Amino acid sequence: MKKNSGILAQRPPMGFNTWNTFGNDINEKMLLEITDALVERGYKEAGYEYVVIDDCWSLRERNKKGELVADPEKFPHGMKYVADYIHKKGLKFGMYSCAGTRTCAGYPGSYDHEYQDARTFASWGVDFLKYDFCYFPEKADCKQRYLTMSLALRSTGRDILFSACNWGVQEPWNWMRTVGVHMFRSTGDIFDTFASTSDIIHKQIDKFNSSSYGCFNDIDMLTVGMKGVGNTANGVGNTYNEYELEFAFWCYFGAPLMIGGDIRSIDEEYRLLLQNKDLIKLNQDAECRPPFEAYVRDDCHFFVKVLEDRKLAFGIFNLGDHDRWNAEIVFAEFGIPVSSNVKLRMKDLITGEDLGSRADDLFLNVKAHSCRIIVAEFER
Ligand code: GLA
Repeated sequence: MKKNSGILAQRPPMGFNTWNTFGNDINEKMLLEITDALVERGYKEAGYEYVVIDDCWSLRERNKKGELVADPEKFPHGMKYVADYIHKKGLKFGMYSCAGTRTCAGYPGSYDHEYQDARTFASWGVDFLKYDFCYFPEKADCKQRYLTMSLALRSTGRDILFSACNWGVQEPWNWMRTVGVHMFRSTGDIFDTFASTSDIIHKQIDKFNSSSYGCFNDIDMLTVGMKGVGNTANGVGNTYNEYELEFAFWCYFGAPLMIGGDIRSIDEEYRLLLQNKDLIKLNQDAECRPPFEAYVRDDCHFFVKVLEDRKLAFGIFNLGDHDRWNAEIVFAEFGIPVSSNVKLRMKDLITGEDLGSRADDLFLNVKAHSCRIIVAEFER
């Protein structure tokens, strides 16, 4: 893919984030192992590039100069060392801070220290900053503070992707692009349950439109393959179909793909899912268009997404608890009436099955908590 230099987030960012699995339990050794696993287990080749440390990396207080300090027990060689290691592997380094006075876990936040902290991050070689919203002073202006950090990062002269995380407070889909962020969290935290995944999808369906090139709606880190283990897990986890639906939805919507599972040990079937070339290609499609929802039947959602090269993709996401046999995709509902005399050549993106050419509709089985994605081309 040809990229314009100096423009970040030309496609949904991809990487790994420590929070879902590790929470407070982070350290240098684990992070370097994760970095190695990204390279050795094919994630880097599949497109994942950011290694992001979430909350709990610093000391509880700033130093005398007012600077943030990495916890020497967790990161004995400091953050520049971690950054250099990650860069040597051809990957990028992400860090975390907060727009409030403290982070969500109670470490120092960047409120009123934005420019100082941006300089610290740049001096360490940081390429990505996740910016949270805890302990935000009541009278402060949320938009103005995200703008402040956005400009502080730019003032360093380093390309630092700005990942805002204000959980959907003050309708970020209406203004985050204007303050210069590259991705914005639009919902509360994800947990490793299907109820949580489904809740996030339901909450964002009518807010798709604002997510595109240069500034993407971030529906949180993936839980794919966690299988009930980790900081945001409940010991149970999801079924394969549910994880597949989650990954497919994130890809189909065009959301950032930040892996939250422990990629050092993730099961082979989930490694393959997270590296599914066709789903990632869909996620990274050059048009960067979010899907259009045409209709819903008992919590089974029918979308169409316009793709590059005049292709399109139908997405059927059955969030409901009942299997749907012979669910009908009615082309007329997607802007292709019978009178158009148009035929679509179709293929199932996940199974690879050729579905032939059809004029008016297509019938599909979509099991409960499962999805189908069908790529179509106009037949000439
Ligand atoms: C908030 C964010 C999470 C994570 C934690 C860390 O809850 O939404 O993604 O960063 O803080 O404390």
